[in-house]
Amino acid sequence: MENETNGFHHIELHTIHPDYILDLFIRIYGFQLIAKRNTFNYSQWFLKSSQCQLLISSVLNIDLNNENKPNNDHYDILTTILNNENTRDFILDRDTTFNVALHVKSVQTILDKNPDVQVLVSRRQAVDEYGTIEYACIKSCIGNVVHTLINTSEYSGSCLPGFVSISNSEKQESNESLIDSIDHIAFAIPKNSALSAVIWYEKVLGMKRFKVNQQDDPFQGFSVHVGTMGMRLFASEYWKCAETACMNDKQSNLKFVFAESLIDSNSNSTDQITKFIANHKNQPGIQHLALYCMDNIKNAVRITKTNGAQYLLPCQDYYLKENNGYIIEATGENVSELAELGILLDDESDNQQELKSNKKVLLQIFTKSIFNNDTFFLELIERRGAIGFGAGNIRTLWKIVQQQIDSRR
Ligand SMILES: [Fe+2]
Repeated sequence: MENETNGFHHIELHTIHPDYILDLFIRIYGFQLIAKRNTFNYSQWFLKSSQCQLLISSVLNIDLNNENKPNNDHYDILTTILNNENTRDFILDRDTTFNVALHVKSVQTILDKNPDVQVLVSRRQAVDEYGTIEYACIKSCIGNVVHTLINTSEYSGSCLPGFVSISNSEKQESNESLIDSIDHIAFAIPKNSALSAVIWYEKVLGMKRFKVNQQDDPFQGFSVHVGTMGMRLFASEYWKCAETACMNDKQSNLKFVFAESLIDSNSNSTDQITKFIANHKNQPGIQHLALYCMDNIKNAVRITKTNGAQYLLPCQDYYLKENNGYIIEATGENVSELAELGILLDDESDNQQELKSNKKVLLQIFTKSIFNNDTFFLELIERRGAIGFGAGNIRTLWKIVQQQIDSRR
């Protein structure tokens, strides 16, 4: 399996429509509900599909006059975030994907090395019959994004302390697993903020910038221009040799993409990045989560479409021979099959031989926003040796999303 392990522990989504989001991941995308819990303030559901773990949280009540104490034995970052008036708005009354929780070797080492980082939840332990976890939660330099740092080396449970496992009798009949793991996370951020984000992630988590493709410039990133608009992309990954406490060797596959707008914040123009920020309570944040497909993307798209998934579809010109049809055929894929499913194909091959042997090809598809504030969306991806993010398709995606924004005006 290509992505056997990775450095993501889980991704946390806060929603005010938990039934809808749970149905989407469980019924449409084949996730299993592993555990759940209810506190006075919030409910949480822990979902899993192979190595991909999601935490769905929903704040129910909040008594702002009465501070609720976190249970010391439990994994709990939300109580602290809700108790603090500066961080409450990170999640309250909104649908947002806000927490990228990471496996770490030593929580304390990261905190010690980064005294300037805002610590939302200081280092704690949580215990249950499966052992002890050590964790802390830090604020990213981006919008409402936080990172829980979790050391699970002394823990054998399948979830986290404080959650109640779903019994076998309670478990729903399992669907076919479609999602294997998390491939990457993309952030939507304002103009001229990507480089400082890259530097923050390098300093705090030891992540290193890498080139999205040949056109990726050290200072300008990879620029995508469509008409008068566009965006710049920068990408970082966890570097195996980095001298940080972030990841152990087998958990080193961590990729972040920083997508910044080219529009000035005081301009009246909008694009998909500025639109995301406007709809996301004027905060930058997590724009999409790319999920690596279990067997092949065609199977995953076919099944999830039948289950009701809503994908963005490229215009049919995309599949014309002179555009992408020839390349699709050269990889041995059927053009009309990909066109019917709406799957995009990108090739990073340096020569025909590589193309024919599928050495550097990736296939991907993007959903419409899964939140009704039209912000966060999912990407499904299958890699055949390609390491990038579908540079050729970014322009296509930009056009589709921009067409949607324009048509709603
Ligand atoms: Fe992506």
